[in-house]
Amino acid sequence: MLVPNRFQNRVAVITGGASGIGEGIARRIGQEGGQVVLFDISADSLQRAAAAMQAQKIKVDTAVVDVGDEESVITAFQTVVQRYGQLDIMVNCAGIAGPTSVPILDYPADDFDRVIRVNLRGAYLSTKYAVKHMLPRGYGRILHMASMGGKDGNPGMVGYASSKAGLMGLVKGIGKEYAEAGITVNGLAPAVIRTPMNEDTAPEMLEYMIAKIPMRRLGTVDEVASLACWIVSEEASFNTGFIFDLSGGRATY
Ligand SMILES: NC(=O)c1ccc[n+]([C@@H]2O[C@H](COP(=O)([O-])OP(=O)(O)OC[C@H]3O[C@@H](n4cnc5c(N)ncnc54)[C@H](O)[C@@H]3O)[C@@H](O)[C@H]2O)c1
Repeated sequence: MLVPNRFQNRVAVITGGASGIGEGIARRIGQEGGQVVLFDISADSLQRAAAAMQAQKIKVDTAVVDVGDEESVITAFQTVVQRYGQLDIMVNCAGIAGPTSVPILDYPADDFDRVIRVNLRGAYLSTKYAVKHMLPRGYGRILHMASMGGKDGNPGMVGYASSKAGLMGLVKGIGKEYAEAGITVNGLAPAVIRTPMNEDTAPEMLEYMIAKIPMRRLGTVDEVASLACWIVSEEASFNTGFIFDLSGGRATY
């Protein structure tokens, strides 16, 4: 259920905002009154997502950004602050799965590096430059999409599982660094959510993941957006350095 005007006068960057979970979170922040800026590597997807949001009267802007490239990230955040005067929220949803159902002996090192570069280096860079622009105003909400795969470890996805486990360490450490600065840094660890990301996931891998979920179904983007929007709202003022659960009962810690 939408919370009217919850994000009025807030400026939110959503990385990976042109598809799936990021797009869903951006749409909801926009529907609740926020100015959203979608960062994504895919210009085509950005155009499509922005047009759909504009049709819903959402205040949306876009930037083609590679979250693994420091210059690209620096420039994009600077442009947001120059254009809108502030940055209140950063939700990092840019991510790639990399190979699935591939044991480590057959998992190429280049693929490992590629997944780490987007999922972990991207998280480091987007956090670093979001914090930089949030500090002067003493307010900020940062949220990263982690994954059950980083908590439990899914076999056959060594790059992905490692990147998400690393991301959770980042959240816990940086949450503590800025705990007294008005900036919260949290993560969310969904089980499988129906999005374009898992269109190419091997069917046996999807079955394996669904079988582990007590609710026996995939989660939805709306379910992720609902929790994510609370975590990045002003109301979530005593939560930082924490990995929230969204797993249909799968997570046990
Ligand atoms: N879908 C799931 O089941 C699931 C479960 C747990 C966690 N997650 C995580 O949620 C996040 C979003 O996943 P999704 O399912 O919405 O995927 P998605 O593929 O629909 O969206 C990911 C977006 O990230 C963008 N992207 C990829 N590389 C980028 C880069 N270098 N720079 C900027 N943007 C880049 C893509 O273009 C795409 O628009 C990911 O971090 C993913 O690991 C997804």
